[in-house]
Amino acid sequence: MCAWARACVCSAAASPRSRPGCRSAASAASSRIWPGGSTAAIACRPNIDQRAARDTAETLTITDNRTGKQYEISIKECAIRATDLRQIKAGPEDGGLMTYDPAFLNTAACRSAITYINGDKGILWYRGYPIEQLAEHCNYLEVAYLILFGELPTEPQLTKWTDNITQHTLLHENVKKLMEGFQYDAHPMGIFISTVGALSTLYRDAKQVFDQESRNRQCTRLIAKVASIAGYAYRHSIGRNYIYPDNDLSFTGNFLNMLFKMTELKYQPNPVLERALDVLFILHADHEQNCSTTVMRNIGSSHVDPYSAIAGAAAALWGPLHGGANEAVLRMLEAIGSKQNVPAFIKRVKAGDGRLMGFGHRVYKSYDPRAKIIKRVADQVFEVTGRNPLLDIALELERIALEDEYFITRKLYPNVDFYSGLIYQAMGFPKDFFPVMFAIPRTAGWFAQWEEMLLDAEQKIARPRQIYVGPRRRDFVAREQRK
Ligand code: CMC
Repeated sequence: MCAWARACVCSAAASPRSRPGCRSAASAASSRIWPGGSTAAIACRPNIDQRAARDTAETLTITDNRTGKQYEISIKECAIRATDLRQIKAGPEDGGLMTYDPAFLNTAACRSAITYINGDKGILWYRGYPIEQLAEHCNYLEVAYLILFGELPTEPQLTKWTDNITQHTLLHENVKKLMEGFQYDAHPMGIFISTVGALSTLYRDAKQVFDQESRNRQCTRLIAKVASIAGYAYRHSIGRNYIYPDNDLSFTGNFLNMLFKMTELKYQPNPVLERALDVLFILHADHEQNCSTTVMRNIGSSHVDPYSAIAGAAAALWGPLHGGANEAVLRMLEAIGSKQNVPAFIKRVKAGDGRLMGFGHRVYKSYDPRAKIIKRVADQVFEVTGRNPLLDIALELERIALEDEYFITRKLYPNVDFYSGLIYQAMGFPKDFFPVMFAIPRTAGWFAQWEEMLLDAEQKIARPRQIYVGPRRRDFVAREQRK
């Protein structure tokens, strides 16, 4: 084992960024869940159960054919340290070997104790609990607590947490005025992103990112206020008055109130829809290192306040390849128009003309477990709202795609966004509001991941390397001499 590589691994653990006594809920949970410490993390894709048996002294021997030199690199948690490769040089001028991994296809950028996904088996756990069990038994705030603090709350803890959140649902009147300034037909996700970012101007204490009390305050505010911002963004986009939160209602009941209350004195949410929303929020609350969470961690790594970081994460979520896919699915279903047109549409997709939105996933190479749960929720919702006529097109797309060689060989299955839009539409949400519905619960995941990153002594400001492919050095040419 090369001494340099070994030193590199050890020095990271003793980084000066570690803060004695500064222990996040996330890191505390990490040690509770995996008392084996660093050797017990789930970086290993092959089999979670084989981890414990693994010898921590596993190594990888690399022969550099340019020089004939051999290097022994340590393997921990089924990963090698990319920085261990820097010692591999072809000559004195060489900066050292890098890994090239556009879009992070095979790079672990953190160790995390929050969410576990096994894409081949279609498994998703939050803090070790299977998503199916959480969706069956919990409400959204209970799961948000689990994600943020590492354990399911006791009854008194849940009551206190729910009260805290409820007391922070009001938006400052200035925020309301700010939102009134948006164009009448502004996309609600644009309003959401801008307004969440603007909260940093209101809560100046949010800059104290290493002050646990400040973080707790921002966490409560964010979980509570994103729902109110979303409600106002919706009302603004349809030209209706903003509805103040009703603290007698549950989190999701109040959310429905802020969206749909008309002139009645008290809004009564339909219990089936209220519960369906809880399940949908639970399913969307976290999903480990996806695009928006990576953005959250990267922005947060500069130690900016969480409102600014969440605005960035929400912007990443908005794209049609990520959380904007639910909106894109609905537009696709409407464009297909009828069941009869499905085969021709699939043919076009296979020929490279567009994608089957709501299908495929970077990690899941089998059925997305969230999509299975959503299909069941859809049935319950449609019993109340009536069946969404686009469902027949979606079912036919799924049927044909799951039997088609193109989708089978590429392991493309329905993901969480394939059916969620159909439910949201049936519940009365407009298509351009769907990404906002994703962002509300994902705020819990973003915050937990941000805090875990901040308190991880190994993390630093994110700064990937590049392979420069531009021109070599050349001399300046005066404007009149340029060709
Ligand atoms: N329809 C048709 N072909 C597809 C699709 C699709 N939805 N997704 C992937 N492929 C094909 C792709 O063309 C490629 O084929 P080939 O090997 O012949 O070039 C192969 O499958 C691999 O695709 P990829 O783009 O390399 O896969 P990726 O891991 O980079 O992309 C994805 C993952 C989710 C961006 C992609 O599957 C996609 O664009 N899906 C549609 C958008 C969508 O539903 N996004 C929501 C994701 S789940 C919610 C969330 O967490 O964000």
